[in-house]
Amino acid sequence: MEFMNVIKNRQSCRSFTGEMVTEKELGQIIQAGNSAPVGSGSYGDVQLTVIQNKELLAELEENAHKSLPGISEHPLYGLSTVIAVSCKKEDNTSVAWANASCIAENMLLAATDLGLGSIYLMAVPAAAQYSHELCRKLKLQDGFVPYVMVGVGRPQNEFEERKLTADRINIEYIR
Ligand SMILES: Cc1cc2nc3c(=O)[nH]c(=O)nc-3n(C[C@H](O)[C@H](O)[C@H](O)COP(=O)(O)O)c2cc1C
Repeated sequence: MEFMNVIKNRQSCRSFTGEMVTEKELGQIIQAGNSAPVGSGSYGDVQLTVIQNKELLAELEENAHKSLPGISEHPLYGLSTVIAVSCKKEDNTSVAWANASCIAENMLLAATDLGLGSIYLMAVPAAAQYSHELCRKLKLQDGFVPYVMVGVGRPQNEFEERKLTADRINIEYIR
């Protein structure tokens, strides 16, 4: 896809068919995550976990629904592939959040390029951070917790065409 079309078509998808992405698609998304900028080039400070296990996805949903007020019963929207981006717990700093977000955005854009639906998820990992058991099940290295999750899959509905815009975010020009 032409780059600005990827940008235009990237939008949050909250309804998935449940059909699994292919290994090839997953591989490209993971490569995009690995190509993201990370502070000081410290790629060892971040970890990815690909979650395609139905039971674990259901546990993550239940944990978020029970521990965060106002969260729906299905905050993973029927996704069958969720990629957790984890960082060291004690690095709960702007750098760790920035690293996780750069990696997540690269994966969202790669998914869009493949014609997949995608979503940036913060509520589910925010709740999972406090569950030692869930962190263990995510196979995180010692001291790591999930910061962000990216969901990818086949969208239930076609995307509504969006227009590129320059007026969503307030901007000043200093020239
Ligand atoms: C930091 C951050 C946290 C987000 N957390 C969630 C979330 O937990 N659940 C969700 O459904 N969407 C989440 N989103 C998606 C936003 O709601 C969405 O990106 C925003 O409304 C703009 O819509 P668009 O992605 O379709 O352009 C999050 C996005 C960001 C950047």
